[in-house]
Amino acid sequence: MKKNFIHPYNIIIFGAKGDLACRKLIPALFQLEKKNFLHKNTKIIGVGRAIWNYYEYVNIIFNTLKNFYKKPIRKDIWNIFKYRLSFCNLDVCNTNQFFILKKMLYHELNDNIYYFAIPPNTFANICKGLGKINLNTIPNKIIVEKPIGTSLQSSKLINNQLKKYFQEEQIFRIDHYLGKETILNLLTLRFSNFLFYNNWDHTTIDHVQIIISETIGIEGRWGYFDQIGQMRDMVQNHLLQILSIIAMDPPKKIDFHHIKKEKIKVLQSLRKIDIHNIHTNTVKGQYAEGVINGKTVPSYIKEIGSKKYSNTETFVSIKAYIDNERWNNVPFYLKTGKRLYDKKSEIIIYFKKVPTKLFDNIKYNHYSNKLKVKLQPNEGIEIEFLNKVPDINSTFKSKPTILQFNYKNSFKKNISEAYERLLLESMKNNQSLFVSQNEIEVSWKWIDSIIQAWDKNNMKPELYNAGTWGPESCIQMIEKNKHHWDHH
Ligand code: BG6
Repeated sequence: MKKNFIHPYNIIIFGAKGDLACRKLIPALFQLEKKNFLHKNTKIIGVGRAIWNYYEYVNIIFNTLKNFYKKPIRKDIWNIFKYRLSFCNLDVCNTNQFFILKKMLYHELNDNIYYFAIPPNTFANICKGLGKINLNTIPNKIIVEKPIGTSLQSSKLINNQLKKYFQEEQIFRIDHYLGKETILNLLTLRFSNFLFYNNWDHTTIDHVQIIISETIGIEGRWGYFDQIGQMRDMVQNHLLQILSIIAMDPPKKIDFHHIKKEKIKVLQSLRKIDIHNIHTNTVKGQYAEGVINGKTVPSYIKEIGSKKYSNTETFVSIKAYIDNERWNNVPFYLKTGKRLYDKKSEIIIYFKKVPTKLFDNIKYNHYSNKLKVKLQPNEGIEIEFLNKVPDINSTFKSKPTILQFNYKNSFKKNISEAYERLLLESMKNNQSLFVSQNEIEVSWKWIDSIIQAWDKNNMKPELYNAGTWGPESCIQMIEKNKHHWDHH
């Protein structure tokens, strides 16, 4: 078989037991193994406080794959993969213990990729520990998970800590949405099709909806999530990244530097939301008990490990405006929540209404064409437009119909998972699909203002039943502008 690998690495996962490592990283690495992208000498080292020997760790990883790898685990692939694994028992708070890690890595000639799949308050210690054992120099690199910090100030602090030990070219700040095939396709869709290229501003587009809904709750992560909330977990990163790609001007070139520059301009043009418009432009929610897929699920405050009371939001909806020439007064509605009716990530572009009423079809006199980008699942694109209903009487009765593109049918191949792509890009030393410090800071500035306004106004989250589309006020917020959520 042709070898696709680039270079042998030690991939060191801090937070080996955590949700991210289990749900995303291990399955992605296994998939890279299957596709033959890992060098034969690449090693995977889980780091954590558990006291596991090799066999226990291998067993745990096998069970992790059984739970989270969505395909059958091929025995031949597993037999190669399991020999890459080892576990390093160390407490990241104790930098003296990093010598244990060094011993495990010392005999390998590989470069190291350190994956910080662990809360940001441990980053400084990990950097210090790696500095102590002199394994922080180029070409070693770190991948850090979002959210970087909980505010502009704390994100600056974390970045400074990282930069004490690592140079910018060694730091890969991940937002896994940027690794999704469908997100990358937004660039192709927008900038290589005249149909869209030329119809992409306030003269043609009425409003935009960006929706990321999930049916899962917080999956045993209460301790982490309650400190963070949906705004910092999803909006500051994934939703603002999508918004900036949808709204940016054409970059001079499709490269890291030029794309970032345009995205930052969009983020800087976001209209400020503060105490004056917080009630009209945001909705904050928290799930109550409800039914999802026929099963009753508990409320947020009855989740495992929860406290009795919490003001943390599990749902956010925002009416955002971008104050630049292209988007003059076009609302961008953002919505994201846990324990909603369905799991999907979609962008829906509503075009302007036709200015004339030529057809005597009352129902569709005020019709908007829709372009729907299905980021996941059923990845694809749909265009909704009116067509005449066939009829011998030649009456002009019309009906919305859908033109569909979907990846499976058109390309006859499965698309790669985001973490798979991003791990590979980090091995190739390519930072293009990672987020720059600048982007993160501009996003925080906008988000901070909203969170501060929530706090100043003592805004409590509105309860919504699990299995619904979120709080009532979220519907009212957009109906004030005579718009409706695209849900079904
Ligand atoms: C992560 C969040 O970044 O994204 C999780 O921390 C969330 O809370 C996840 O569940 C959603 O990712 P995806 O790719 O399933 O939409």
